[in-house]
Amino acid sequence: MSRLTESSAWFELVRHRQQMAGVSLRALFAGDSGRFPRYTAEACGILLDYSKNRVTDETLGLLMALARECDLESWRDDLFSGQRLNRTEDRAVLHTALRNRSDRPARLDGLDVMPEVRNVARRMSRFVDGVHFGAITGHTGRPFKDVVNIGIGGSDLGPLMVSEALRPYHNPNIRVRYVSNVDGSHLYDALDWLDPENTLFIITSKTFTTEETMTNARSARDWFLREGGREADIARHFVAVSTNQAAVQAFGIGPETTFSFWDWVGGRFSLWSAVGLPVALAVGMDRFDEVLAGAFAMDEHFRTASLDSNLPVLLGLLGVWYINFWQAGAHAVVPYDQYLHRLPAYLQQLEMESNGKSVDRDGRPVDYATAPVLFGEPGTNCQHSFFQLLHQGTQVIPADFLVAAESHTPIGHHHRILLANCLAQTEALMRGRTAEEAAAELAAAGTPPEVAALLLPHKVFPGNRPSNTLLYRKLDPYTLGALVALYEHKVFVQGAIWNINSFDQWGVELGKTLARALLPELTTGPTPDHDSSTAGQVRWLRERMAAGETGV
Ligand code: F6P
Repeated sequence: MSRLTESSAWFELVRHRQQMAGVSLRALFAGDSGRFPRYTAEACGILLDYSKNRVTDETLGLLMALARECDLESWRDDLFSGQRLNRTEDRAVLHTALRNRSDRPARLDGLDVMPEVRNVARRMSRFVDGVHFGAITGHTGRPFKDVVNIGIGGSDLGPLMVSEALRPYHNPNIRVRYVSNVDGSHLYDALDWLDPENTLFIITSKTFTTEETMTNARSARDWFLREGGREADIARHFVAVSTNQAAVQAFGIGPETTFSFWDWVGGRFSLWSAVGLPVALAVGMDRFDEVLAGAFAMDEHFRTASLDSNLPVLLGLLGVWYINFWQAGAHAVVPYDQYLHRLPAYLQQLEMESNGKSVDRDGRPVDYATAPVLFGEPGTNCQHSFFQLLHQGTQVIPADFLVAAESHTPIGHHHRILLANCLAQTEALMRGRTAEEAAAELAAAGTPPEVAALLLPHKVFPGNRPSNTLLYRKLDPYTLGALVALYEHKVFVQGAIWNINSFDQWGVELGKTLARALLPELTTGPTPDHDSSTAGQVRWLRERMAAGETGV
């Protein structure tokens, strides 16, 4: 048994879970009109309503006790003081320094990293202004109109999600596109209709070795040269964001158009660094700064608020409650906000790459569940796809709902309809519909008794399905920054409870290694060391592959 599952708070939670087995949310609400004010917390303009969870004061007390037994507060102090929390890569975890708005230093091995952080931010700002106001142009002197960010994982999902979320703030003269997939169709479609004279490529890669990104970057460069650009013009049309200066230079991008970041910024935590350059180009540096300010406000809240009123702590511990004590294997994120349509994809990397681990910090197998499968889609679309399962499926899937009081794009009553749907879904999940209620509704609708008997079991909703709702005034840059930092810290809280390293990702290595080995075999045929399935697929594909690959 691990230290976690032997802790007294864990034992108490196991016992308490049995007590809660027969408790329904509907009854909890009926018996307590004060549930909403008691089980809500607010910070940085975000109201978290967690009252529709299977929790009582006792549950929350025990979860807080678990957090204390797991030294959450000292882990949190270590995060903000530049400790090398990422032990397997021997790296500090200091992405919070990137949005540090205080005059406190952010120390790494005794040295303040803030001057370097501010220096890169100033360079970014000059570059963005230069592009926006025409001082920085393409090789023929035409202003840049299209920006293509080439990157994958953290070098794509964060800036892409934020660019989409801030669509109402976009500079109308700049269009930003993102290319991540090594599937040539992605680059092909992105380059369609682009004019190399006014196209700027940002090659974003922490390592500058990632196969997908480097393949796309080389193909983009080939396209640029084929469409009339010259070698000498590449420096004006390609910029890089990376920690690997040598590889950037080898690609042909000079130091003056390279924006660096540092190994103490994990890929999936990097959007606050120069990785946010495409966002800054889309919305301007002032707006990008507002995103950072919102994230900083959430950092301050997480760093200083007591555990029981701390939004990331509450979200993290509620997740632990369901994952470890109710065996919830999945978690849904449902933004009732079209501009947040890439949030679930972004959170998939954040949560699953961070906490999808089965050994603890010391390499011992864990005897408890860690990250669940995260999925989601914007509401109301998901109501017409996977919500059937949330309401009546055999698994209980906790869900986060996010919605703004105000729309960016008010059209008629659209926003009220959106809000009503969001509220209705969490209410329906919580209340359900009993057999008696369903029977009464069928009778009221004049359904013949034999038809009603047939339909009745299908019309029953078990209810008691938990959800959190995050409400905010409007999805402005500040609120967005705060929301993203909230989820980052939630992931940190869960990693601290589970005693895992949330900052490495060794699980992505094996597939990459095997792909490198298989690549030549698609030409030469499979080597004998493969299983019959892999070898059979290689042979089948070789027989059908069209000759050669052409450029975009
Ligand atoms: O998939 C693994 C990973 O290392 C992610 O953690 C990272 O965000 C992504 O690849 C991209 O890496 P890079 O920015 O070095 O190209």
